[in-house]
Amino acid sequence: MSNWQNLNHAVSLAPGEVIEIEWQGDDLLLYRTSAGEYRAITAYCPHMGNYIPNGLAPGQSLSRLLQQDELRCPFHGWRFNGEGQCTHIPQGQPVPVAVKQGRAVARCWRVREEKGRIQIAAT
Ligand code: FES
Repeated sequence: MSNWQNLNHAVSLAPGEVIEIEWQGDDLLLYRTSAGEYRAITAYCPHMGNYIPNGLAPGQSLSRLLQQDELRCPFHGWRFNGEGQCTHIPQGQPVPVAVKQGRAVARCWRVREEKGRIQIAAT
């Protein structure tokens, strides 16, 4: 069952753009893929719980977090797709069982654009 809700503030992102939002008590990163699809993923890395934007150098754009339409945590380079699955861990780092089994490790939300408004729903 869908429970779509409008974001409180008007948002329109260009492909490749990333913003931080707060949604019902959770900190999310909302971004738009190169194909124009919206994605929302937790702003806290499943690896060590770091707030992902804090891994950027001062002044760096949040869009630097995207790599091939996936979110790349700048702390240790883990990468997550729009479904929350870890798609890359740099060589030499242990791979958790959940990742080996292809299970989602990062919480995601569904996002759509409806009549010019961005709507979001829990997965
Ligand atoms: S804290 Fe994100 S990859 Fe390690």
